[in-house]
Amino acid sequence: MHTITKKSIKKAWAGAIAEPAKEFPLTQLSIISGKVPDGLRGTLYRNGPARLERGGERVGHWFDGDGAILGVNFTDAGVTGVYRYVQTAEYQAETQADRFLYGVYGMHTPGPIWKRWGQQIKNAANTSVLALPDKLLALWEVTNPYALDLQTLETKGLDDLGALDNGLPYSAHYKRDSQTGEIFNFGISIGSSVQLNLYKSDFTGKIIQKTAFKLDRCSIMHDFVLTQRYLVFFMAPMRMKTLPVMLGLTTFSESMLWEPQLGTQVLIFDRENLSLVSRGETEPWFNWHFGNGYEVKDGSVILDMVRYSDFQQTNEYLREFATGETHTVSKGTLWQVRLNPQTAKVTAMQEVVNQKCEFPVVQRSQVGQAWRYTYILLMPQRTDTDQESFSAIARFDYKTETLTEADLGENRYPSEPIHAQDAQNPEQGWVLTVVYDGNSHSSEVWVFDSDRLDAEPVCKLGLPSVIPHSFHGTWNPA
Ligand SMILES: [Fe+2]
Repeated sequence: MHTITKKSIKKAWAGAIAEPAKEFPLTQLSIISGKVPDGLRGTLYRNGPARLERGGERVGHWFDGDGAILGVNFTDAGVTGVYRYVQTAEYQAETQADRFLYGVYGMHTPGPIWKRWGQQIKNAANTSVLALPDKLLALWEVTNPYALDLQTLETKGLDDLGALDNGLPYSAHYKRDSQTGEIFNFGISIGSSVQLNLYKSDFTGKIIQKTAFKLDRCSIMHDFVLTQRYLVFFMAPMRMKTLPVMLGLTTFSESMLWEPQLGTQVLIFDRENLSLVSRGETEPWFNWHFGNGYEVKDGSVILDMVRYSDFQQTNEYLREFATGETHTVSKGTLWQVRLNPQTAKVTAMQEVVNQKCEFPVVQRSQVGQAWRYTYILLMPQRTDTDQESFSAIARFDYKTETLTEADLGENRYPSEPIHAQDAQNPEQGWVLTVVYDGNSHSSEVWVFDSDRLDAEPVCKLGLPSVIPHSFHGTWNPA
């Protein structure tokens, strides 16, 4: 008898998620090179799955890892960092038991099948952060967010923002209008029907208006677009096999079916009263993320997003990612879409960056407004293989239609690039990214001049421990 063992093809990026991340208390960060810009004052917060195993068992999907938050404070007295797991009730129970106790997105509740029905799932608190005046929220998709202390990142507890009754979900991709201070968000709840809950909050996060809109199927809606007058949603052509999930026979991840014949549903809501303006249909695609959107003079909405040809491949790639080895082809590219919000008809659509990319971001003050630059994580041409991960950040300029790329080099992996406006000069911006360097098995914070991504970073800061690849973050100006 011969045993055929598959040869490991682990790349350097896997080093960042090989072990559960180690927290650190508020620590002065050392400058590795360059100088911290005088106008860079505020805090970078990031969230991501930091623990992908427990008791010798690996999670089922990258989305299942326990969230930990990194805070990096840029002050006149220097730069400090702090890194803390979100102490959810489930995280604490699993720590106590030293094993997984709950199901999440891509894994079952451990134990026999007959015990799975109706089991509680774990709040992974791992997807993004919302910095409010008196608290930081750790966000994910399925229930209430957790509130943390802005300075120490100590977990305070679940937060209902005054209106998230019975664990109503508050998604990771809120949109904040920097001119009005309003914060918009949504959450999909699955009960006897599938509902799209819409929320409007004031600048403190307190929900001041909410509605629930009944959807005709269960799809994955991860993000949306805010414009001056609208909230724009695209519902990918998917359906959920409800019964097998309820019975615990399949995970949520496995139960999502790709049905391109359904088309992508376009849903436009009025941001004043959260009511439906129009509903339409367009060609099938899947996207996790939007960059931004706004209304042009003729009333059309222009937006951008990272588009995939289907859901299965990106989802499978993200499942594999948690194992440290990927082989599934999953290529999302940057697209621009034009639509008529009154009819929900897509009138134009084109690919603007044809390299593999993700995590499109715009500067905070331009969310929902006209914008020129979209920042992305990018796969440089030199490493465009299915086994590799993103090793560049880039900026697409819609005015000149050019892409400026910062290739970080062999075995270095940046996170979603976050734009920080300079406190002294509003024309000046900085781009912050947390880099895992597989050559030295360490993590650093790199600061680029937003207009000179192709130049050396203006500053590099060392972090006390390895920060696993993360999802989303925010810049909170001082
Ligand atoms: Fe996301």
